[in-house]
Amino acid sequence: MIDFKYLAQKYDTPLYVYDFNHFTQQYNALKNAFKARKSIIAYAVKANSNLSVIRHFANLGSGADCVSIGEVKRALLAGVDKYKIIFSGVGKRDDEIKEAIQKDILMINVESEAELKRVDAIAKELGKVARISIRVNPNIDPKTHPYISTGLHENKFGVDIETAKGMYIFAKKSENLNPVGIHFHIGSQLTELEPIREASEIVANLVRSLKAINVDIKFFDIGGGLGIKYKDEELIKPYDYAQAILSTLSGLDVTIICEPGRFMVGNGGWFLTKVLYEKVNGDKRFVIVDGAMNDLIRPSLYNAYHKIEVLNDNKEISKANIVGPICESGDFFAKDIDVPKTNPGDLIVIHSAGAYGFTMASNYNTRPRAAEVAIEDGNDRLIRRRETFEDLIACEVDYLV
Ligand code: LLP
Repeated sequence: MIDFKYLAQKYDTPLYVYDFNHFTQQYNALKNAFKARKSIIAYAVKANSNLSVIRHFANLGSGADCVSIGEVKRALLAGVDKYKIIFSGVGKRDDEIKEAIQKDILMINVESEAELKRVDAIAKELGKVARISIRVNPNIDPKTHPYISTGLHENKFGVDIETAKGMYIFAKKSENLNPVGIHFHIGSQLTELEPIREASEIVANLVRSLKAINVDIKFFDIGGGLGIKYKDEELIKPYDYAQAILSTLSGLDVTIICEPGRFMVGNGGWFLTKVLYEKVNGDKRFVIVDGAMNDLIRPSLYNAYHKIEVLNDNKEISKANIVGPICESGDFFAKDIDVPKTNPGDLIVIHSAGAYGFTMASNYNTRPRAAEVAIEDGNDRLIRRRETFEDLIACEVDYLV
């Protein structure tokens, strides 16, 4: 059991707390599920980019799925093997492509014909060969929240099968491109297996037809997306997930790459915040806390559910909204939930906050971002200090002219 009260006292609030032992368990569960094949678990850095978190996964043998050169640099700094780093994203700048080629990472995941030509030209300028994969959009509905669904043609991600084929032929002919991989990712917080299996089958068939034209794909990247339990979701089991993918790959000698983010860290993170005041407006009760949408934006942005626990023994319970101090009505963590009567200083624990919590935080309202703490084998340590006002204004120049 994690002693949240002790941590809140020691590090103050708002605070992110991560259980590194949980992270290990999740990594191992997925890695073991794929043990019948060569595989790389490439942790999706965007879910939680703290260097100590990436380092933890690197030590377990994890690779990194990155979507900016900044994330690539984080992964390298944290000790991820460069041959386990993938760089994805629909809009890479020339300087990002250049640096990725120079850093000799496993592959750049290309998302359009135009980008392929840029990678080709930049590799040529550098006199290097860029290893690439192509992100295929299999046009599959993953049945998740529309904002985090990515595998339909109406989404901006990847290219359709026919375009992909043409791109592989182009890459094969180029002296500066080495097409080693193929990639798909249909969405996040997936709880249904069939769309994943279908997508994998479509992409595996493409690999077979590429083989016939001498394009030899070595890395089969299935993206991320495995869902976690926020409330009462029925989850896909890692073993079933792996079996569904493997069932589509018969006859293909490929290394599987999987890019989980949320699955690895989501339920190993909590956001701690303290009650400042209670108030009643008309018949609405509000519990006002010191954390806000700038710290954890998922409820505001996606109307996402996060379990909320109030750490007091009060038996007097009624409906309330849990809200932050930011000047927006959208600044809430939950609406109309049963909450015991609180006193200033009572601690509130927001669950499932390890993924897309801190990484989506901002300084809106000139609020310093929260501190982050790791718990491992019963010990706690600070892995990011709380920001100060000076940190927030550090980049602003010439304001007294
Ligand atoms: N690979 C690619 C290409 C991705 O686009 C993503 C997530 C992942 C892997 C990792 O997906 P995961 O395993 O974490 O589901 N901010 C949203 C989630 C956005 C996900 C974007 N892409 C949220 O808070 O729910």
